[in-house]
Amino acid sequence: MNLTIIGAGYVGLVTAAVFAKLGNEVWVVEIDNDKLKKLSCGEIPFYEPGLGELITKNTSAGKLRFTKSYKEAILGSEIIFVCVGTPSKNGKVDLSYVYSATKSVAENLKNPATIVIKSTVPPGINSKIEKWMKRFTKVSFDLASVPEFLREGKALEDSLHPYRVVIGVEKKSVAKKLLQLHKKIPGKRLVCNSASAQMIKYASNAYLPTKISFANSISILCDKFGAKVEDVMKGVGMDKRIGPDFLAAGLGYGGSCFPKDISALLHLSKKAGYNFSILKAVEKTNRKQVDYFVKKVVRLCGGSVKDKILVVLGLSFKPDTSDIRNARSLLVIEELQEKGAKIRACDPVAISEAQKVIKEVKFFGDPYEAMKGVGALILVTEWEQYKNLDFVKIKKLLKSPIVIDGWNVYNRKRLEKLGFVYEGIGK
Ligand code: UGA
Repeated sequence: MNLTIIGAGYVGLVTAAVFAKLGNEVWVVEIDNDKLKKLSCGEIPFYEPGLGELITKNTSAGKLRFTKSYKEAILGSEIIFVCVGTPSKNGKVDLSYVYSATKSVAENLKNPATIVIKSTVPPGINSKIEKWMKRFTKVSFDLASVPEFLREGKALEDSLHPYRVVIGVEKKSVAKKLLQLHKKIPGKRLVCNSASAQMIKYASNAYLPTKISFANSISILCDKFGAKVEDVMKGVGMDKRIGPDFLAAGLGYGGSCFPKDISALLHLSKKAGYNFSILKAVEKTNRKQVDYFVKKVVRLCGGSVKDKILVVLGLSFKPDTSDIRNARSLLVIEELQEKGAKIRACDPVAISEAQKVIKEVKFFGDPYEAMKGVGALILVTEWEQYKNLDFVKIKKLLKSPIVIDGWNVYNRKRLEKLGFVYEGIGK
């Protein structure tokens, strides 16, 4: 099929690359000149394993094209995906990009098309968007909602092998067309109305953090009662009704999605007159987990971190991404700096992003280099390369052999045997 993707952000680029790989002719519209230039040279503006290669392959094959022009892209497109950002503005969803993109689509529509909203938008908004678009076109179109459920760092895997494809439509004929487009993609199908599809996205992005905050609350109790949170959550997750995923206790969730979608849902609930108290507690618990961790660091450093040099391993909000939005590292570093600590920080790919927002930190690509003469090692993002460090070497480098593990990745017995003071979370 001939497709257009509006917006070369995270979701847009992945969607475009995947549909091109599956044999469709795909245009991507991006209005940012710099981004467009880079994309045309095969450069992608963020780190995502495998995506650059897939884009280059399909661009060279002529299956994937980038343009600034809505007119050029959508002229022959049967399906147009709106993949622009919906950032948070004081807790509210900022829909300005959705409205400007759909206006441009309407103004350039020459033939009937299906317009699919992939951006995360408030449930029920499609009727408003439809009215808005009709102000700019007489050409008939259908609106649908197909939310995305991909994770950063695993975007291709999640898009090519998703758990489910949710198709939110008001007409059977549109469902048929979208089911056809997704035919080569496995996973369960759910066809529902567009408001339900949009709610599924918010509900999923609220439920997963609920599991995480629950696990984190249990981790604090585990610390107090001598239980191991990993074993506890493993046991809990063995119950099929609960499931094993998203029960990893640690420093809490970050990223560009969960925090943003939780505040949007809280805002929408408030507007609708509903007090979503569970979700408020999820948010609060997540914030408190960082304070809990920092208190641990201070305690293990002998009651004060003033003028102590500490190494923070990991800056991105999770491994395999350069994204530092709402990363726990930002909060941990800020709190430790407020308490007078001097921070050295390492990350395999996120240093240049972090340099834009973190001040007075020394950055190191090589963790061993950073560890020379420091007071403690603090694991904040569980990158694979930090899981397999040489602790015999580290013992000789650190001034005080203290390891505080935000994700329970290290083996306590082994570290203690080597002479380290070690603490994880709920361990
Ligand atoms: C999340 C969802 O998982 C995707 O399904 C969704 O499409 C995406 O948001 C989105 O709305 O765009 P993402 O933010 O990329 O994906 O990352 P996740 O892997 O879900 O992790 C989110 C945060 O939760 C990370 O900070 C991670 O460290 C934390 N987490 C995850 C835990 O603290 N414990 C866990 O057990 C799992």
